[in-house]
Amino acid sequence: MERRTITSEISTVFEFDYSVQAEDMRSLYEKAKRDQWNASRDIPWDTPEPSDGRTLADELVDIHGSPIWDKMSEADRVELNRRITAWRLSVLVYGEQGALLACSQLVDVVTGTDEKFFQATQVVDEARHNEVLERYIQHRLGGLHYPMPENEKVLFDVILGDSRWYIKTIALQLVAETFAVAMFKMMHECAHDPLLGEVCRRILQDESRHMGFGMLSLPGVIKEASDAERREMEDFTCLALEKVLSGFFPIDAYRDLGFSPAQIAEVQTYRRDVAARNDYAVFRKYFKRDMHTSMVQNLARIGLLTERVRPRLAALGIQLPDVA
Ligand SMILES: [Fe+2]
Ligand SMILES: [Fe+2]
Repeated sequence: MERRTITSEISTVFEFDYSVQAEDMRSLYEKAKRDQWNASRDIPWDTPEPSDGRTLADELVDIHGSPIWDKMSEADRVELNRRITAWRLSVLVYGEQGALLACSQLVDVVTGTDEKFFQATQVVDEARHNEVLERYIQHRLGGLHYPMPENEKVLFDVILGDSRWYIKTIALQLVAETFAVAMFKMMHECAHDPLLGEVCRRILQDESRHMGFGMLSLPGVIKEASDAERREMEDFTCLALEKVLSGFFPIDAYRDLGFSPAQIAEVQTYRRDVAARNDYAVFRKYFKRDMHTSMVQNLARIGLLTERVRPRLAALGIQLPDVA
């Protein structure tokens, strides 16, 4: 059984004042308690499988509409569709495990009772997301997992290895969860299997609260940071963004379907060409709209859309408004 051990040194803060100190944070905690759901009870696991075997709309397959796609048999198209879903869900299920671990550390390191209470709910939420995605993979995709991408490992090694709560929160609640929300929204809107759509819808209900934690907790620490600390936060935001935005090409899915290295290179060229023409079909349309817009808005709200950060976002292909 493969496992990954990450060494970290964290300081546990024990609070003695349990009165309400941060009302907004306490009400986020109240919402979390009110909106709990149960993956065993609330997901319609008996939903019939689509008769054509697809899980996502074909438009979400990178090569949809290309000459390579046109030459493929119906059976291969279905198989590629399912493998790409398995690849994306694998990335997400590792992300949920990483989030579960990071939030359990946050319960320890964060100061303030309201913050600790809220993080305790996020631990449960992330465990449920880990559980529900795994159940979907078992239920519909025969338990098919792909290995954790290198970029994702690097990102979570940093999140889990750093002792400071705001570094964890910048990477998790600000960057990784903005990415995850865009991904789940896209999969919700483009699910061919209604069961997958429902799993994504349920996860999304929780994710907006998690992003809320970052929005409530980060502005204060950013405002009070020294210049050196702010620079570190800016650099770390850009590093986390770079990790989530690059390297997410499901090469293994193509390989497993018997694509040769030359054919995979053709797929990647096709993908790049379409991206350069800026009509990267559905994936770009949905994903760019949600991920880029909310990332820029959130960075502006917490005070990190600085002159140092703006050009680096632009270099990552994130469109910026003219003024900060
Ligand atoms: Fe999650
Ligand atoms: Fe989350």
